[in-house]
Amino acid sequence: MIRKRSVILLGTFLFVSWNAVLVLLLWRRDLAPQGEEPPPNQEPLRHDDVIQDVLKMVDTFEAELERQKDILLQIKDQKLHLLYPHRAFNRSSPLSPPLAVIPILVMACNRVTVRRCLDKLLQHQPPDKLHPIIVSQDCGHQDTAAVIQSYGAKVTHLKQPDLGDLPVRPEHKKFQGYYKISRHYRWALNQVFRTLGHSAVVIVEDDLEVAPDFFEYFRALHPLLRADPSLWCVSAWNDNGREGFVDPGHADLLYRTDFFPGLGWMMLKEVWDELEPKWPAAFWDDWMRQPEQRKDRACIRPEISRTITFGRQGVSLGQFYDKYLKFIKLNSQFVPFTKLDLSYLKEETYRVKFEKDVYSAPSVSYEDVKQGKLTGLGPFRLQYSTKDAFKIMAKNLGVMEDLKSGVPRAGYRGVVSFVSRGQRVYLAPPAGWTRYDPTWS
Ligand code: UD1
Ligand code: MN
Repeated sequence: MIRKRSVILLGTFLFVSWNAVLVLLLWRRDLAPQGEEPPPNQEPLRHDDVIQDVLKMVDTFEAELERQKDILLQIKDQKLHLLYPHRAFNRSSPLSPPLAVIPILVMACNRVTVRRCLDKLLQHQPPDKLHPIIVSQDCGHQDTAAVIQSYGAKVTHLKQPDLGDLPVRPEHKKFQGYYKISRHYRWALNQVFRTLGHSAVVIVEDDLEVAPDFFEYFRALHPLLRADPSLWCVSAWNDNGREGFVDPGHADLLYRTDFFPGLGWMMLKEVWDELEPKWPAAFWDDWMRQPEQRKDRACIRPEISRTITFGRQGVSLGQFYDKYLKFIKLNSQFVPFTKLDLSYLKEETYRVKFEKDVYSAPSVSYEDVKQGKLTGLGPFRLQYSTKDAFKIMAKNLGVMEDLKSGVPRAGYRGVVSFVSRGQRVYLAPPAGWTRYDPTWS
């Protein structure tokens, strides 16, 4: 590997040097008019002429370098095609990694309002073929099937074949719906990864509406998800993304979070291969939040959600819907994520910067935050040391108070970032945090 690299480097060096020599020779020839002595009455080279010549040389040199860059990029492109014959390549930016096909899997059941979800997906779907839409339908509901069918070839319609009730213990009778959802997820994800052979997926539920830059977001984050084993998902959702709790002028802001947000999220086949054999009979999302599954991995999430849910009537009977979910703000401003440098999200880079931001922020009291008495630029740090302190402050300040396996919603290393009356506040554990306590729930 190293040998091959140095051969390539040496080759490149020789190629560039040879061309540099050529340029210099050509330039010298240009300066001295061939076969002619300068007329005797001509003044020695004036200042202007020298500048002209230098500029000319720079131009020639620049053009030559540009040409060489093009040639090298072509070579690189061809190599990428040999390495990844099944992938599309982004011609406009040859230096970016190959673009994988990332299908969108829509989980449907018996709600004809899946139309709203599909209309928005199709409205924002880029024209390339990189994000095919697959609708997997459970429940066998005819009207919903007809709606999905009405999209013709614009979506692929799969039907989960196993519609019977699942055996559950008597006290779980009321949770039958969660069992069915879990069965459906296993089947649909097996279709996507095993039957259709995809290597990544974005999962959307039928009561989600997506933002204009939904596809752009996932596409841009895919290489990071691939490259960083400390990540296991990218989500479109901010659990604390209510209007007034996010910074509207910062639509490009992204975070890492230890909380699995779901609700429009991307996963790689490798993670599915790991989870599928032990996939739970019910409550798949909370199961994913347990330490045995999460294994300290994080997800990327946005400041402003790229999905909202319009499904008040769901299996969980609107538990959170009227209190929180319906107020989540959907991003409306298209952020060209694929053109941005997202390397700040890499594990170590992000953690070091985040902890510095949080723990160098001035510590403030709950009363100051609550009464809007924060003065100065911010951000500010509001410390909690116990589960109860976290819950009381979170609840009273309007951020989600529930913890799953000890992790607060949208939290990263115990820290929940939100906006309170226009000021950035970090609800944070004392410095030196090391791990979550799964008994906090
Ligand atoms: C909540 C979660 C949801 C999660 C589910 C399972 C929120 C806002 N929603 O569901 O992300 O997947 O718990 O723990 O946190 N469905 C089936 N078969 C059924 C019933 C539903 O496939 O028999 C599908 C629906 O089409 C939908 C998904 O499962 O895509 C979730 O169903 P929904 O009724 O929206 O339940 P929530 O209460 O939102
Ligand atoms: Mn729902």
